[in-house]
Amino acid sequence: MTTAYLNGEFVPLEDARISPMDRGFLFGDGIYEVIPSYGGNMVGFARHMQRLDQGLSAIQLDNPLSTEAWQSLLASLIEKDQGEHLGLYLQVTRGTSLIRNHKFPSECRQTVFAYPFEVNAPCNGNPAEAACYRVATAHDRRWRRCDIKSVALLGNVLHMMEGVNAGADEVLLFNEQDELTEAAACNVFVVEGSRIVTPPLDQAKLPGVTRNMLVDILRNERMPIYEETVSRAKLLAADEVWLTSSTKEIAPVIAIDDEPVGDGRPGAVWAQAQTLFARHRFTL
Ligand SMILES: Cc1ncc(COP(=O)(O)O)c(C=O)c1O
Repeated sequence: MTTAYLNGEFVPLEDARISPMDRGFLFGDGIYEVIPSYGGNMVGFARHMQRLDQGLSAIQLDNPLSTEAWQSLLASLIEKDQGEHLGLYLQVTRGTSLIRNHKFPSECRQTVFAYPFEVNAPCNGNPAEAACYRVATAHDRRWRRCDIKSVALLGNVLHMMEGVNAGADEVLLFNEQDELTEAAACNVFVVEGSRIVTPPLDQAKLPGVTRNMLVDILRNERMPIYEETVSRAKLLAADEVWLTSSTKEIAPVIAIDDEPVGDGRPGAVWAQAQTLFARHRFTL
């Protein structure tokens, strides 16, 4: 049985209930995070808290809990679950108002929800253990503030289904200029020769905690990491392509639109990067 947290109480996940008048349900008016936890240790907790604060303040919502309160709430979920490899989902919405109006209600108590779910064991950089991805490509039609980790994910969901319907596991998205933005639920890196490149952050991309941790790790290790625009041509000519997210860490893309990336196997630079990530995941 999974234990969830809802508005101050720990309850069995299947018994957790919120009102259909919750603005998260009616408007997607909320912010979420997903934090991995391995062997009881969270990865990137401070960074997830920082992005949560940024997202909440971008939609003019107060953070209902202090960082310490989030930490102890999530620690309780980990302890109750006892799972070795977990994702911790947390969501804050503007709450329930009995009058449905696009305008923010003057008085509304936030809804706070969190629950743990099982994820795969993280990889230590061994190609034989890599979870590999085949991806499709699509023009990025999501809203214009993709930097906010909003629960309004319909655009992402529809994009993901484009990929799934094309027989892929993820989808790489391009802006009007045919430049790579990110994937439906991941950031993207490409390797060209010895250069590792990821598109620069702006309002068209989520500032991925994993992306930013990886950039920091590669910089600290003096690896050649660049934040540069990636054209479609550059992407398709890349030796390696990686997806990053909290639950995938660094995942090698082995095919794009059914064409192999490199030799269609996890690349040598990926193995190096995932090995470094495994070494530093709990220290950043
Ligand atoms: C659109 C999008 N981009 C990137 C990411 C990766 O972010 P993080 O590394 O913080 O999990 C996610 C994660 O859910 C996402 O939804």
